Amino acid sequence: MDGSAVSEAPASLGRYSSRTSARPAVDDTPKTMAELEDHRRRLEQALSDLKSTQARLLQAHKLEAIGQLAAGIAHEINTPTQYVTDNVEFLSRAFERLCDLVVVSRELVASVKAGAPSADVLARAEATFANGRIDYILQESPKAIQQSVDGLHRVASIVSAMKDFSHPSGGEKAPCDLNEAISSTIVVATNEWKYVADLEIVFDPDLPLVRCLRDEVNQVVLNLIVNAAHAIDAVVLGGANGKGTIRVETIHDDGWAEIRVSDTGSGIPEKARERVFDPFFTTKPVGKGTGQGLAIAYSVIVEKHGGEISFETEAGNGTTFIVRLPVNVHEERLSTFCAPLRPLA
Ligand SMILES: Nc1ncnc2c1ncn2[C@@H]1O[C@H](COP(=O)(O)OP(=O)(O)OP(=O)(O)O)[C@@H](O)[C@H]1O
Ligand SMILES: [Mg+2]
Repeated sequence: MDGSAVSEAPASLGRYSSRTSARPAVDDTPKTMAELEDHRRRLEQALSDLKSTQARLLQAHKLEAIGQLAAGIAHEINTPTQYVTDNVEFLSRAFERLCDLVVVSRELVASVKAGAPSADVLARAEATFANGRIDYILQESPKAIQQSVDGLHRVASIVSAMKDFSHPSGGEKAPCDLNEAISSTIVVATNEWKYVADLEIVFDPDLPLVRCLRDEVNQVVLNLIVNAAHAIDAVVLGGANGKGTIRVETIHDDGWAEIRVSDTGSGIPEKARERVFDPFFTTKPVGKGTGQGLAIAYSVIVEKHGGEISFETEAGNGTTFIVRLPVNVHEERLSTFCAPLRPLA
């Protein structure tokens, strides 16, 4: 697919859309009705082959992304799990010492009640206090408990984001809260961006529900975030030169739900701008990119949802990808207001 520049953009600041330009037609015009019919059948077959190849590519890219994300997610879950384990081990040792203290305290109470406080019990109680580092336990335990609770919440939110991200739509469009879907995608992709960028979220709280294939739109947002992280990585060199910024924004714009993913990365080089939506076009080394991310984004947004995808870029300053999905207000209203009529009494 060839992009086309919008004429008012300055030379260095390109605005490119995913609109296709006309390609030269091959002169294979059929001559008779039979030839016409045969031609139509072959075209139909080619279209159906193309659609199933596209579906397989999307599935393969999704599986590849899940494989790639799995290592990052394991790491994200591993960190809180590790400190929850350390804290629970500390609390378990602390509990044993507090139990010792309870046992000796009971003996002490019993001997005081009996009117003859035993020197032996008193000595043991003092030793238990001293050796058990009770003050330290009392000081550190609340922190260990709070950290563990936070860690478990973190794990729960990662697991819930994973479930949300990978929940299959089964090819059925359904009303979707894009802010929620994007939040899950950002969590699932954390390991892809956190070493090279800070991530800013600016969500429109009034964004209406959008009828869409949630899992596929999630995949598009993931592709854009990973691209943004790679573009920043090229500038900050894995964090050695500080961090860049990725900004993810949603906007309700007159019948459209807009998702903007901006980065402070390298920008798209002039000669690559016309080709970024082409399948298998990549400027990345083997192992880092296969050139399918934006082709899939185009197919999902433009072909499957009747939306638009475009970008603005400035060499050396960064790029903003803009995805626009139609908000089917009419359909939403219908589903809200067309409750079944009650029979008149
Ligand atoms: N945010 C961006 N900043 C700079 N260049 C970008 C950005 N997004 C895409 N590109 C350019 O567009 C090319 C195509 O992107 P696309 O996502 O389709 O493939 P890829 O990232 O190379 O590989 P894949 O997504 O399949 O892993 C990239 O190789 C890169 O040159
Ligand atoms: Mg990509």
